[in-house]
Amino acid sequence: MDEDSRIAAVDEVPEDGSFLFTVRDGFDTGEAILLRFDDGVVAFENYCPHWRDVRLDKGSGATCRDGELVCEKHGATFESDTGHCTYGPCEGAVLEEVDVTTADGTVYLTDDRYEFENRGSSGDRDLSSRGRIGFSGQ
Ligand code: FES
Repeated sequence: MDEDSRIAAVDEVPEDGSFLFTVRDGFDTGEAILLRFDDGVVAFENYCPHWRDVRLDKGSGATCRDGELVCEKHGATFESDTGHCTYGPCEGAVLEEVDVTTADGTVYLTDDRYEFENRGSSGDRDLSSRGRIGFSGQ
């Protein structure tokens, strides 16, 4: 762990939302979210397993309710400590975890697949906010 892998102070991770950050995998970037629960902090990739172009945190914090993360698109719920989907169209799926660790009140990225890029959004367009085009092109 070093300053380059520092994501945030544990206290910056809201108890009723998420902390968005961006990771780098070679030339590609992706988003991940930190969630806080009773025993610590966990991170998941920032997309819904139902429609992978839907971000759980669109930049202002994901919706969390009673220890569960909620996908606002179709209402799927995920246990915030395990990422397990307990309800919704992707019930039984599990969010892709990103390895992090905490030390001295700070959260560090420890996932070999990624380098820490920046706090907040990757700056990519939010694909989930647009309508889908049907087979007829309408
Ligand atoms: S896109 Fe998340 S529940 Fe459908």
